[in-house]
Order: sequence, then C-alpha cells, then structure tokens
Amino acid sequence: MRVSAVVRSEVMPEYRFVAEGFEDAVRKFEEQKPEAEVKTQFVIPEKDFNTAGKGSSELKNLLKRLGVDSVVLRRIAVASYEAEINVAAHSKGGIMYSTVYDDLIHVRFEDEGPGIANIEQAMTPGYSTADDLVRELGFGAGLGLPNIKKNSDAMRLVSAAGSCTKLEFLIYFAKIS
Ligand SMILES: Nc1ncnc2c1ncn2[C@@H]1O[C@H](COP(=O)(O)OP(=O)(O)O)[C@@H](O)[C@H]1O
Ligand SMILES: [Mg+2]
Repeated sequence: MRVSAVVRSEVMPEYRFVAEGFEDAVRKFEEQKPEAEVKTQFVIPEKDFNTAGKGSSELKNLLKRLGVDSVVLRRIAVASYEAEINVAAHSKGGIMYSTVYDDLIHVRFEDEGPGIANIEQAMTPGYSTADDLVRELGFGAGLGLPNIKKNSDAMRLVSAAGSCTKLEFLIYFAKIS
C-alpha cells in the first residue's frame, strides 16, 4: 500500500523588529530563556470589547505591584492593549500569554485566524481593514501595529491568509546601554 502525505514546507511570512542597542540582549534571551518569575494568561473572545483590554490592564496592575517604572509600564500597557484589541477586532478570538522575567517582559498573542495576507501592508501606519462595528467603537485608525512596534524593544509578527496570527514583543524594564 502506498502512503502519501502532503508536506507543507512554506515558511510562514514574518515581520521582525529589534530596537537599536537591544540586538545582543534579544539574541541572548532567544537562545536561552531565563527562569520566569510570573506567568499570566487571558482569553480574548472575538468582538468582545468589554473583555479585550482586561489582560493588559491586569498585567499593568501586576507589574505596578512588582515596582516596574511608570514610563516602561505605560509602554507595556499600550503595546499589550493594542494587540489585545487586534485579536478581538480582527480575529476569531485568541489568547494573551505574558511571562515576567527579572529584567524584561515577554507578551505573546495567538489567535484563531483568519490571518493577515500582507504583513508589510498591515504594519503601514493608517492601514486598516476594521469593519463598521469596530470603527463605530472608535477602533480602526490603523495605528495599532505601528504603536506596538514603537513601544517594544523587540517584536515579531507571524501570519498568513487563512492561518492563525502570532504576535510577540519584549520590553526591558531598564534601559540597556
Ligand atoms: N490578529 C489579527 N488578525 C488578523 N488581522 C490583523 C490582526 N492584527 C492586525 N491585523 C490586520 O492589520 C491591520 C492593521 O492593524 P492595526 O495597525 O492595529 O490597525 P487597526 O486595528 O486600527 O485596523 C488590521 O486592520 C488588520 O487588517
Ligand atoms: Mg489595531
């Protein structure tokens, strides 16, 4: 009997960004993850804008209690809020995972699709496919992804049409010099 299998070998398109001066730190982190201090997880349901935003606000409270500097805290809150809203607005729902380490936070989002056909275009300031409902609620300016990049020390967006979308970012608690 012949057994055949379809192997999909295409590499998923991805967008990567590492802020200047963070290259070594990010490489070191990716090679060997340090021991995590705290982990959190939140479900983000589709088009539920009461729940979307809770994960980032609880994360902000947690980090405030841990004594994270207010400027850094604001960057983390903005980036994670924008990513949470994107999952609610543009996907069928997903999960936000955050891991707090001694000197940085890693926040990761995974959703159920439908994915992003053109990542470069999605990263362009002002580009949005938000529907009327989302726009009526005041979202859809097309600035979420650029804002996540602006506030992160490193970010990675992996997606394709018909796939899930994965977005992650790192923000260090102190300036690296
Ligand atoms: N999780 C996601 N799933 C599918 N598409 C997304 C996702 N996040 C972003 N996008 C796409 O990227 C575009 C730009 O996102 P963003 O910069 O946050 O602007 P906005 O959310 O205001 O549309 C969105 O309009 C959408 O087409
Ligand atoms: Mg957005």
